[in-house]
Amino acid sequence: MFSIEAKSLSKSYNSVSAVDGIDINVDSGQIFGFLGPNGAGKSTTIKLLTTLIPPTEGSLQILGIDAIKNPLEVRQKIGVVLQEPSYEPNLTVEKSIEKYGMMWNVPKEIRKIRTNELISYFELEEIRHKKNEDLSIGQRRRVQLAREFIHDMELLFLDEPTVGLDPYARRNLLNFLKKKASEGLTIFYTTHVLTEAEYLCDNIAIINKGKIMTIDSPDDLKKKFGNQKTIKIQISSIKKELPSLFSNIQECKIEFNSGSTITIHSDKPELLLMKTLQILNENNIDIENLSAIPTSLEDIFLKMVNNHDSSNN
Ligand SMILES: Nc1ncnc2c1ncn2[C@@H]1O[C@H](COP(=O)(O)OP(=O)(O)O)[C@@H](O)[C@H]1O
Ligand SMILES: [Mg+2]
Repeated sequence: MFSIEAKSLSKSYNSVSAVDGIDINVDSGQIFGFLGPNGAGKSTTIKLLTTLIPPTEGSLQILGIDAIKNPLEVRQKIGVVLQEPSYEPNLTVEKSIEKYGMMWNVPKEIRKIRTNELISYFELEEIRHKKNEDLSIGQRRRVQLAREFIHDMELLFLDEPTVGLDPYARRNLLNFLKKKASEGLTIFYTTHVLTEAEYLCDNIAIINKGKIMTIDSPDDLKKKFGNQKTIKIQISSIKKELPSLFSNIQECKIEFNSGSTITIHSDKPELLLMKTLQILNENNIDIENLSAIPTSLEDIFLKMVNNHDSSNN
């Protein structure tokens, strides 16, 4: 059984199609990444999957429950942290986490223990007695995320949770989510940051203009789209003769900056690299720096989104 099973799910606002016939299957215990640029339909999808808005079309099973017929039953079993900030200005950090637990009927003893654990894990100790209205945006976000873990759930939805967090808090959250997933929690996670999806997710769907363009594991995405490697060789001095030395190697690009840089883009860069090193050696040119970079998910993502746009226009 899938934790999330959506078929041809759509949401239109007047004539605008925010989500356009998407199919999603998420196995339990997975972290499923939902990746796309601004306006792609990520938040609308989260609101559909969490029953906060009804779909215009399609079917949806959440934890085996028909979510369109029984939205309230679904909401009792899931956690959601939306993009919009949500806090009570007058409550302290500690009180707002506790109160959230009360709303979820978490027994008092467990509430106390979990509140302390969450305050410690999300590093809220110093602001424990501060009121929400006196917190920075990043601090509020951390409280909003922390309190969601006060209640038991099988499935959690997070809409761009790391926006506004500093790099340390960001990494801390990602590791916390990994730990929760290893304990059995299923997580649906939206982001526009590729490195996050790559670090965190078992599967990644790329969405653009309301449509899913591909669903794959990070490794398979790279295998499918990313055989290319980029090799950069830097030379500390400016060598005007470089372009003529490399004139018969098409994949080489020569740039002059503070020194000289030779860039090779290729599916099979090894052979070209050997030739290049040979030429440099024969001409007594010393190498300052050499690096080989595999194609990043970022490149794949940009390529896909751009191709899609140009085929539509
Ligand atoms: N309540 C709404 N009314 C009208 N249009 C909406 C509404 N919510 C979202 N949209 C539109 O749907 C598209 C997708 O929005 P959204 O799901 O918020 O994207 P994302 O979260 O990926 O940035 C956008 O074009 C947005 O303007
Ligand atoms: Mg959004």
